[in-house]
Amino acid sequence: MNHFDLVEGEGGGELYCEGVPLSRIAEAVGTPVYVYSTATLERHYTVLRDALVGAGLKDPLIAYAVKANSNVAVLRTLGNLGAGADTVSEGEIRRALAAGIPGERIVFSGVGKTEGEIAFALAHGVAEINVEAEPELHLVNRVAQRLGTRAEVAIRVNPDVEAGGHAKISTGKADNKFGVSLSEAERLYANAANMAGVRPVGVACHIGSQITDLAPMEAAFGKMRGLVERIRKEGLTVERLDLGGGLGVPYFNQPTPPTPADYAAMIGRVTQGLDIRFAFEPGRMIAANAGVLLARVILVHERPEGRRFLVIDAAMNDLLRPAMYDAYHDIRPVKPRPGEPLPYDVVGPICETGDTFTRDRVLPPLEAGDLVAFMTAGAYGAAMSSEYNSRLLVPEVLVKGDQFAVVRPRPTYDDMLAREAPAPWL
Ligand code: LLP
Repeated sequence: MNHFDLVEGEGGGELYCEGVPLSRIAEAVGTPVYVYSTATLERHYTVLRDALVGAGLKDPLIAYAVKANSNVAVLRTLGNLGAGADTVSEGEIRRALAAGIPGERIVFSGVGKTEGEIAFALAHGVAEINVEAEPELHLVNRVAQRLGTRAEVAIRVNPDVEAGGHAKISTGKADNKFGVSLSEAERLYANAANMAGVRPVGVACHIGSQITDLAPMEAAFGKMRGLVERIRKEGLTVERLDLGGGLGVPYFNQPTPPTPADYAAMIGRVTQGLDIRFAFEPGRMIAANAGVLLARVILVHERPEGRRFLVIDAAMNDLLRPAMYDAYHDIRPVKPRPGEPLPYDVVGPICETGDTFTRDRVLPPLEAGDLVAFMTAGAYGAAMSSEYNSRLLVPEVLVKGDQFAVVRPRPTYDDMLAREAPAPWL
């Protein structure tokens, strides 16, 4: 469910974000530009929270995964509803704090936290550091003691389940770089309980992203339950269970993922009677359908060999997912023209063949100057953007009702060049 709809008007239909026609944003801000819907962000958060609470989970911490969409206005929108933040770098912690999310709702995860980042997290009172390896546990212990504090840690477990999905975003198999094995977690937990600089408070897992099947999650969560019970049997307390990222989302032509209610009910079932506080780290299910990438057609290039290239002003530096994961994004004309749909290869201007969003996509007829929207681009879109080919970093706009605000302006070329300096000998 999202708030990007075709609204019928005098000159035909036009795609809106809530009460704002996308063409108005394109006129005001230029293209390419990301557009986010406040109502959709809020709805996704509340539907998930209500489902989890409805399934009887005690006071769940929904720590939104900042990596999915790290714009401070997006974080503030969610933080105002009570969301926490799952962070993986000092930069993300700083963003969460800047958005008004208090340290006590921030989780710090990630496979390679530096000493400086750990110190920063502790100085700002993050709720929990998810420890991913034995040397990291010792590092956190040392840093916390140096700062005269005691870090609350969760041990990140790699439950060794096959979650399907793209190999580049699967994290829960034993040969992935994330976390420690179940038996290792038991040992580390017991060690941590004897360290002066850490207090083990829980266990965490995350098996991958864009998972559209509950079965692997259920298998992983069942293993986590067993782990909690074994650690408790040794006389240690386990207060928190962090179940990682959220559900996959429908990218238009894919199987419909389970609903938040199905997900919550499954968790309620698997963890029944465990008496524990839950944390979740959803990113995509909150942000993906809350954003589109708006682009303009530069030209249509029909090659005599038969291919029809739709060259647009967005490129792989603005939306990397198709080039990186062969990801599918629905592409919709903002003002669909009548006429026979045609197959297009939709490409950006970057000088490599990988800068192809899709091939042979059948779309309503399009002409130079038309606007198109890449749907479901609110997660891992702008957050993964770059300036490759010295293209300006893509701006972001947040819509609420009939208002919109530029929440990351497009830099100027002078801004871009001012960041660099010639070496003294040049
Ligand atoms: N927690 C941890 C420890 C994670 O590694 C991730 C995602 C999440 C939570 C959030 O997962 P989600 O709820 O969004 O599925 N760039 C890729 C996705 C990478 C996901 C990395 N980790 C993409 O565009 O598909």
